[in-house]
Amino acid sequence: MTISTATDLHAVAEQMTSGGRGLLAADESIPTMSQRLEAAGVTASDIARRDYRQLLLTAPGLAATVSGIILCDETFGQSLTDGRRFPEAAHELGVLPGIKVDTGTVACPGVDGALLTQGLDGLDERLESYAARGAAFAKWRAVLSVETLVPQVAEGNAAALAAYAAACQRHGIVPVVEPEVLAAGSHDLVDSARATRMILEAVFAELDRAGVDLSGIVLKPNLVTPGLDSQQVSPRTIATVTYDVLRATVPAAVTGIAFLSGGHPTHRVTAALAELNRIEDAPWHLTFSFGRALVNDALATWEGSPAHVTAAQRALLANCREAAGAAGCGC
Ligand code: 13P
Repeated sequence: MTISTATDLHAVAEQMTSGGRGLLAADESIPTMSQRLEAAGVTASDIARRDYRQLLLTAPGLAATVSGIILCDETFGQSLTDGRRFPEAAHELGVLPGIKVDTGTVACPGVDGALLTQGLDGLDERLESYAARGAAFAKWRAVLSVETLVPQVAEGNAAALAAYAAACQRHGIVPVVEPEVLAAGSHDLVDSARATRMILEAVFAELDRAGVDLSGIVLKPNLVTPGLDSQQVSPRTIATVTYDVLRATVPAAVTGIAFLSGGHPTHRVTAALAELNRIEDAPWHLTFSFGRALVNDALATWEGSPAHVTAAQRALLANCREAAGAAGCGC
């Protein structure tokens, strides 16, 4: 059984990942965003979070390189200073609005240190409301670590991702399926490849079981890299190993793959993405769904000051252009 809906999910997934454009992940939870603002010297509040996300979304010409913006529930319901709601303004600016719908993680029973992502309770009602308010796509993030990823953890998280993806498609929303193997730590490239392969195998088995239309999803995986505390390898090696893992696990029917940046510096992830796009005959679009690699410079530049908005937007746009160039954008 394949899920069918009036929305052309494949067309939206295509729009999100083709032409070298990618996604801007601006969906940090209230506590995480507040912490990042405070670290940048900005007093955290709902208004500060709104002003910061407004700065990102309204960067002039953002849509040339960014196809969609991922928002959290707070921002999704907020208005810009001109009175427009964020999803409405995004559509008008040529950027598809997306919404993070998982509700975070809990400890995975029986596996010390492992996490299970929650959020299926009430998901149908929330998706209905988000769809009515303009959401084109959604996101759910499973948080995995090389040390604690065992089959039980992979299967539990994969089953939740598949249930979420099926629910999204029933509501005409493209699911961004994000199984993130964290880059934090001192593991090596082989450990990262093993863990990434294990979770992707589990995810595609569960998506198949749930009847999810693979042409109407976007996969958001990590690049396969050594841990952030380990000796790094060349962008070419990251691309080769990442591609091998993806080819072994991701069906060609998937429309697009949009990588997270995982705490790696901008130049490292964009160089790896550029190498990935040099590989011929990849069956999927390969692009970005970066958070920190796009926004860190803008946040540091802004400092909460209206006088710095233009400079912060320039810093964001420079990183977006670099990422989109790596994804094959002629912009
Ligand atoms: P980073 O690119 O900063 O890893 O964030 C992407 C994201 O959406 C994580 O869920």
